[in-house]
Amino acid sequence: MNSAIIKGIGYYVPKNVVTNEDLSKIMDTSDEWITERTGIKERRWINNDESTSSMALEASKNAIQDADIEKSAIDFIIFATLSPDYYFPGPGVTLQKELGLDTIGALDVRNQCSGFVYALSIADQYIKTGMYQNILVVGSEYHSGGLDKTTKGRGVSVIFGDGAGAAIVSKSPSKERGILSTHLHAQGEHAEELTLIGPSTRRWVPQIIDGAGKDDDAIYPYMNGTFVFKHAVTRFPEVINEALKKNDLNAEDIDLLIPHQANLRISQFVQKKMGLTDSQVFNNIQKYGNTTAASIPIALAEAKQAGLVSQGDLICLAAFGSGFTWASALIRW
Ligand code: COA
Repeated sequence: MNSAIIKGIGYYVPKNVVTNEDLSKIMDTSDEWITERTGIKERRWINNDESTSSMALEASKNAIQDADIEKSAIDFIIFATLSPDYYFPGPGVTLQKELGLDTIGALDVRNQCSGFVYALSIADQYIKTGMYQNILVVGSEYHSGGLDKTTKGRGVSVIFGDGAGAAIVSKSPSKERGILSTHLHAQGEHAEELTLIGPSTRRWVPQIIDGAGKDDDAIYPYMNGTFVFKHAVTRFPEVINEALKKNDLNAEDIDLLIPHQANLRISQFVQKKMGLTDSQVFNNIQKYGNTTAASIPIALAEAKQAGLVSQGDLICLAAFGSGFTWASALIRW
């Protein structure tokens, strides 16, 4: 069986920087509150001429360049997002068209913060079986347009940012290198603890317009922050340890853990619980906030650019989020 590697990685974030100070001018919040609770100092919000798929396109171009392949070598697309351009179709097809990739298949993944790791797991299986040769795996999110930016929505809106990350997953040149294993979990009983209810089939747009309209809370994301926090700090170590155990490895073997950038306090809690050093964990939430499915590929691309990811390194990706879903991947780079 083949083994799959991440051959190239790239990211794109909008130019528009929104600081905590900027937010404090439109809602009752402060740099101190946001920094202390989340570690976030600033995030990016897109301009009107950008979209989830346009950010994905830029990230994909960077990943293709990093992989040093022709884009025509890509034979499948997997696109993870909770903020698609349209209700339907999903953005995989838009990206396929924008890249000019003829009629190759495009799959959309709806697993929120775990979306990229779920998508990577799917790509890994297709490469292993030999069904595809070079898969473009993307995570892209446009949150800023859908947040409640009043004081009522401050518990959620200060956390999320826009951005995209992409990877080219290909057959490994050697058996020693590649994705060692992926581990996927879900617990649907907590679906409504972190959710956006409308628009959906539970609340179609005409119902929203006929009902409370802009005062309908269901049109904004809802998050039970403390509940999410408690589950996240349990599930992250659990799924990282599952991956280590499966491969007969220990926490000290990890060269770099890239946790989904949910909240700096969550990452620090996980680091402490796992007994990892500062140099073993990569965080960039300070600059981008939580970009959901895009956060891991953005962080991986930045870590690689910073020289923190080298051939032979053991890289661990781990995510937790809405669903609840959580997942990990262990990679011998
Ligand atoms: N600015 C200022 N005050 C705020 C605020 C903001 N942006 N958001 C909430 N507050 C206020 C609340 O209104 C509340 O005030 P009150 O005590 O007068 O009622 C107070 O701060 C505490 O709110 P609470 O929600 O209990 O804060 P918290 O300590 O739980 O922190 C989170 C909130 C969201 C930072 C925290 O729960 C968290 O990190 N959860 C995990 C979220 C996450 O990672 N989500 C992504 C998962 S993928």
